[in-house]
Amino acid sequence: MTEQLLIKPTTSGTNQSNAGYVESDYTYGVESPNALRKLCLFLSNAILQFPQIFELQQQILNQPTLLRKEVEDEIASLKAENVNVRVIDYGCGSGTYTGLFSPDNYLGIDCSLPMIKHAQKQHPQHKFLHADNLEGIKSNLEDVSAIFLVGVIHHLPENLLISILDCLPKTNKVRMLSIDTLKCNSGLGAIVQLFERGEFLRDERDHKRILDRIASQLSYKKVPYGSCFDLAVFRGIVRTDIA
Ligand SMILES: C[S@@+](CC[C@H](N)C(=O)[O-])C[C@H]1O[C@@H](n2cnc3c(N)ncnc32)[C@H](O)[C@@H]1O
Repeated sequence: MTEQLLIKPTTSGTNQSNAGYVESDYTYGVESPNALRKLCLFLSNAILQFPQIFELQQQILNQPTLLRKEVEDEIASLKAENVNVRVIDYGCGSGTYTGLFSPDNYLGIDCSLPMIKHAQKQHPQHKFLHADNLEGIKSNLEDVSAIFLVGVIHHLPENLLISILDCLPKTNKVRMLSIDTLKCNSGLGAIVQLFERGEFLRDERDHKRILDRIASQLSYKKVPYGSCFDLAVFRGIVRTDIA
């Protein structure tokens, strides 16, 4: 079995996403949660921390089928450019897309230890790292050529996202695929999103502003996700002057 890399996440707090965030991270239209949202967040975190339940939820939401094609297309296009592409699947969760990547060129990272353990069990040939940023492995990132952020940006305060991407090499182009849920302000979507685990859901304008800050855009589209939500599918090149 490939060595499972484990480094202790550097931020304090829970084992969930954005552990260690501070109140001031709620900026640019990301509202500080009210009491109802805090309760729903607590409940969904308590339930969805278990990889098996997370995977069941994915199946109910018809994932990963819906997004798999976008990930597959990106992998094909990366391979067409460079067969030795080295990929980081940041926020890999239980390893939803791990099987699509060659084990030699893949590193899955997640801040949840149960998710990483589950992913490692399902994909013993692939490498995984338990971490909530890239700081600790910065010196090993020189040949990274692509980063996948599938369903992750809405878990991250802007400053953390910037600091993660700022660790990527400045010398070569790093391709980025980001697929993320956009915030619903009304209707059924807004009710369902009360239970969203990501604390930094953003509307399309704000999400695009952040994407523009971190990467130069190659393509962008908004894709309906069920009847309630929209997903933002963004391809770009990570900026070298990000901070
Ligand atoms: C919605 S899930 C997406 C999982 C997987 N990419 C997928 O599409 O099925 C978001 C994942 O991001 C992880 N995450 C949240 N904040 C993180 C951080 N700061 N560093 C690493 N992973 C993080 C969570 O633990 C969770 O597994």
